[in-house]
Amino acid sequence: MTPMTKTALLFGACLTAAVAVAPAGAPAGGLADPGVQVAANRDPGKRLYLRKTCIACHGKDGKGAMLAYPNLAGQDEKYIVEQVKDIMDAKRTGSPDETGNPRSAGMRGALVTADGQPRITDDEIKQIAAWLAKMEPAPPAKPETPVDPQRVAAGEKLYTKFKCRTCHGKDGTKPLKGYPYIAGQKTEYLIAQMTDIRDKKRTNGKAKTMYPMIKKAKDDDIALLADFLASIDRTAKN
Ligand code: HEC
Ligand code: HEC
Repeated sequence: MTPMTKTALLFGACLTAAVAVAPAGAPAGGLADPGVQVAANRDPGKRLYLRKTCIACHGKDGKGAMLAYPNLAGQDEKYIVEQVKDIMDAKRTGSPDETGNPRSAGMRGALVTADGQPRITDDEIKQIAAWLAKMEPAPPAKPETPVDPQRVAAGEKLYTKFKCRTCHGKDGTKPLKGYPYIAGQKTEYLIAQMTDIRDKKRTNGKAKTMYPMIKKAKDDDIALLADFLASIDRTAKN
């Protein structure tokens, strides 16, 4: 058995347990709720999002994802499809998380069997992505200790200095087609991804196009950029 399948197995098992005990915010009981069921029946993408267990980690309607996992509501449709496939193909693993496993190992374990068979079809991924892209983005998370406005201002300056806008648009709210929205995403998630792209631990998709800009960013710069981006309210801008 390769280490990857071992990880996948382990996480598959964890996930089954996690879904069974319904972690915070994951409405395992939601399916039994007639209101949720009726709404879900209307959109096949939403139904699949529940059935394929995405909700357990990414939260109701792609908002309020658990831990430092990304929110998906209002993300670019094409980008969602490509990332799901890259994670299933183990092309996007990222640096290890606090459990020592690749950041995407849990998701891969949920969507690919131990012997490498997909538990979801390309068409199902597309339907979920189309539905998620239509969802209103999550409002910015409220940090436990308010972020110093000077940090946000400093992050905004760096965003201009490093020319992030070329691809992610003004304030991270108007990316090129197929590129990710980065405004209003969780601070910790943003830091992890910027660091992984800078350190070439995330090289899937078009991540390499960003490398020449982010390679100049120090850890402190990345933290400021994240404070700025996480503070932006996409619900207000839409
Ligand atoms: C066991 C938890 C888990 C499950 C189940 C799960 N994901 Fe994920 N997902 C994650 C984590 C963690 C990441 C971030 C990985 C990283 O940091 O590289 C992620 C990343 C993503 C991304 C990339 C987001 C971005 O901004 O780059 C997309 C899209 C995504 N998941 C969609 C889905 C869909 C659709 C499903 C269901 C078919 C699903 N996920 C199921 C945990 C999960
Ligand atoms: C030349 C285009 C380009 C530039 C400039 C650029 N990026 Fe990116 N960025 C991308 C692409 C493309 C991705 C998605 C990579 C992929 O396909 O997997 C990405 C991904 C990201 C992500 C992860 C998003 C997620 O949901 O996982 C963050 C955060 C990010 N960029 C921040 C920045 C910041 C901050 C800057 C400026 C320092 C910047 N980017 C400059 C193209 C760019």
